[in-house]
Formats: sequence, C-alpha cells, structure tokens
Amino acid sequence: MAETNIFSTLIAHCKEYGFVFQSSEIYDGLSAVYDYGQYGSQLKKNIRDEWWKSMTQLNENIVGIDAAIFMHPTTWKASGHIDNFCDPMIDNKDSNKRYRVDHLIETFAEEQEALGNKDLAAEVIQSMEKLLMVNDYPGLKKLIEDNKIKCAISKTCNWTDVREFNLMFSTQIGSVAEESETIYLRPETAQGIFVNYLNVQKTGRMKIPFGIAQTGKAFRNEIVARQFIFRMREFEQMEMQFFIRPGTQMQWFEYWKEERRKWHVSLGIPNDKLRYHNHVKLAHYADAALDIEFEFPFGWKELEGIHSRTDFDLKQHQLYSKKKIQYFDNDINEDGRPYGNYIPYVVETSVGLDRLVLTILSLAYEEEKWNKEDGTEDSRVVMRLPPKIAPIKLAILPLIKKDGLPEIAKDLMNECKQSFHCFYEEKDAIGKRYRRMDAIGTPFCVTIDHQTKEDNTVTIRYRDSMAQERMPIEEVRKIVEEKIN
Ligand code: GAP
Repeated sequence: MAETNIFSTLIAHCKEYGFVFQSSEIYDGLSAVYDYGQYGSQLKKNIRDEWWKSMTQLNENIVGIDAAIFMHPTTWKASGHIDNFCDPMIDNKDSNKRYRVDHLIETFAEEQEALGNKDLAAEVIQSMEKLLMVNDYPGLKKLIEDNKIKCAISKTCNWTDVREFNLMFSTQIGSVAEESETIYLRPETAQGIFVNYLNVQKTGRMKIPFGIAQTGKAFRNEIVARQFIFRMREFEQMEMQFFIRPGTQMQWFEYWKEERRKWHVSLGIPNDKLRYHNHVKLAHYADAALDIEFEFPFGWKELEGIHSRTDFDLKQHQLYSKKKIQYFDNDINEDGRPYGNYIPYVVETSVGLDRLVLTILSLAYEEEKWNKEDGTEDSRVVMRLPPKIAPIKLAILPLIKKDGLPEIAKDLMNECKQSFHCFYEEKDAIGKRYRRMDAIGTPFCVTIDHQTKEDNTVTIRYRDSMAQERMPIEEVRKIVEEKIN
C-alpha cells in the first residue's frame, strides 16, 4: 500500500478504535485540534510517564515542575516571542489561502523529488534555506514565482508579498474591559522553567549541572495545519532545560543529543528510523540546534529539538524582572580559584508528545495476511505497541458466559487490575474478541475455559505471534508484570 494510503488508513483506525478523534466533531470539528479517546489518552499518558521517569527518576540531578499555562505578559516580551516568534507567510490572492513559506516550498520540492527531479528539489531547498537565514522575503517570493509554485486550491501563482505572522494566541485576563490585560497562551513550556529557575535552584539546593523538566500544553496558531496530530494548534511538549557552566554547552549539547536518541530507541523506535538534522537558521535564542527526525509515513520530519540556548533566556528575565539571576559556583577552576558568579547556560531537549504518539502508532500499525492450514486466507489489523506503553496490558476473556467461567475471570480481573490495565469481555466468539484486542494493541489475552475449572490453568495468547500456551492461573499476573516491565 502507498505510504499516504497507509497514513489515511491509520487515521481512520485511530478514530474507529478510540485513539484519536477530531475535536468537537459533532460541530464538524476544529481545524488542527484533536481529542484523545479512551485508548489514545492512556497510550499518551504511558509515554509521558516513561519520559518523566527517564528524566526525573533516573537522573539524580533533574527535577520536575508543573508551571501554569498563563504567565505574566512580560515573560513573552523578555523571551523574544512577541517580537520574534513569527513565520514568514504568503497568501494566494485568488483563493485567499495563507501558506507558511517554508512549507509551500518544501511541498514543491517533495513533489519534484517524487517526479525524479532530484537536482531541482535540492537546489530549491538550498536557496530557501539561504534566503531564510537572512530573512530575505522578496527573495523568497521570487523563488516561489521563478519556480511557478502554485496554490493547491486555486492552482494559480498569484501571490502577495511575504509577511511575518506571530504564532502566539492571545486572550484577556480581568473581568472589566478597561482593566483587562492581554496575556498569551504559552507557545512553549520552557519559559515556565526559566521563570522558576531561582525558586527551584534555591529550594532544591541544586548544584550545576542540573536540569528542570516539565510536561504540558503549548499553543501555536499554526497556519498550515496538516498531517493529523503532527502539527496541531494545541499540543503537548515534554521539555527539559539543563543548566550548565558557560563554555561547556557544546559538550552537553552532544551528550543530550545522544541520550535523547537512545531514549527513543529504548521506547521501541528503530535507530534507522531516526536521524539528526542540524538547523541552518537558528531560533533567536540558540547558538546551536538540531532536530531528531523520524521517518513518518509522509517523510522525514522533526520529532524532537535539541537546542543550546546559551544564557539568553535567564539574562533576558534578569533584565526585564530586575531580579538578579546568578549562580555562585564554588568549584575550583584551572587557575585554582572558584568559578564564581555567572548566569548559567542552558541546553534544552524538547519533544512533542503528540508527535511521539503518532510515531509509536505509525510504527505499530500493521495489516497482516496469511494462509491457514486449509489453504484459505486470513487477515488481521494488529497494533504492535511495545507492551510497556500499550493502553491495555491484558484482556481477560471467559470462553462462554456461563458454567461459572465469568466468575473465575472476574476474580482474575480483580487481582490483576491492581497492577496494570485489564479489559474484561464475555461477548462474541473468542476469535472476534482476539481481533479487537489486536486492533488496540493489547499484548496479552487470557481465556478461561472448562479446563480451568478442572486444573486451574488458562490459555495465554500472545498478540505478536498469536501463539497460545497453558499456564496456571495464579502465574498470570506475575508473567504479565515481568513482560511489561
Ligand atoms: N522550547 C523549544 C521549542 O518549543 P520547537 O522545536 O519549536 O522548540 C519542540 O518545538 C517540539 O514540539 C517539536 O520538536 C515538536 O515535536 C513539538 N511541536 C512543535 N510545534 C508543534 C505543533 N504545532 N504540533 C505538535 N507538536 C509540535
């Protein structure tokens, strides 16, 4: 099946099996906003928990916080987001459709590559990157016109000038109109960490190098909303700011780049589906940056950003708040003196939780076909989710709804649900129930049958191999626990 077909099938599957729904669907939805259903929200939580554990439990020098979404408006002036968090946009005069310039050109390059015009594709991307570096907006417009890049709707090349568009959402705080103040929905969670740097460093008696981690919602008024939960207007980030001594940023940048890639692999993402992409145009706060990209069904795209943010943010907050944000480092340097006072430098790791969910879902989804012993064909859709993050770990299925089998199954359910998520079902033929569990990625099913009443054994069925084996009922909980840990 073509990659784009697989992607649309995956989107349909996510809806049919309760992973992801279009937000406010009964009102025809809201563009680029999605809701997670019963299995999607659990999958997302499991991934978030893995990240949280890897950062705050496995690293003794990283602590977690949970800052508010609303922040003092000066935060965004200080951080540079009011002045710089903009994307160059262009409108098509015939369709009135607005495009992010880099997306418009990238889509054109992808089409050319698919048509075999690899040199042209590379040349266009190279020119775009050079022009973006120096904010040459007339040059970008000329590039679009010279290559006759058309609007997908009007199919014309009738473009406005390239303009900047700020991506932050704003709202008002205060009940009386005259006294209200404009505040912003945070476009990144990182600033909640920076403004709490002093609080955490002092109350936690943190010693450099140390990190502060946070997960939470971020909001961006993305103009080109596309590719399902890849690019959303409301999304969730998992960010960690690592505070370090000035001058050591490249060493820590390399360290975190490797660590984060290893973490993705530990989550079950094949290493050859990941690659690094160095930024050509750096964000206003960075002196080095790269993306960890994943090969999504629609091509290689950013999954996580690693940024060396220098002392930009803390310095700016010191300037705007007029509060001294300094660290006294009493470690001894090469000259035999303490390093003394400085504003720490920062290396940031920032991964989109929704993009990670999409990564995991697209790797897990498989349509499988095989020949049965009688020569006929059988098939199934299976989500090969890694057991440790699968929403349901164990399905407990009495073979029939009578003869005391449901009672035994419910006892097992009551025992196992203390340790992990279980699903109980007694309706439909057992084969049908297995298929439903395959479709949501449940790694283990146990069936309680008449033999269970005789010898206290059950059949455990493994999702991936579909192999079945008998085991004592009292071992089920332990076996599943071992496999999911
Ligand atoms: N604090 C740094 C920062 O926000 P970023 O590269 O703009 O850096 C970090 O974003 C990560 O957040 C991205 O790698 C991506 O996974 C996720 N992300 C950014 N915009 C997103 C969007 N509109 N929808 C979903 N995820 C997004």
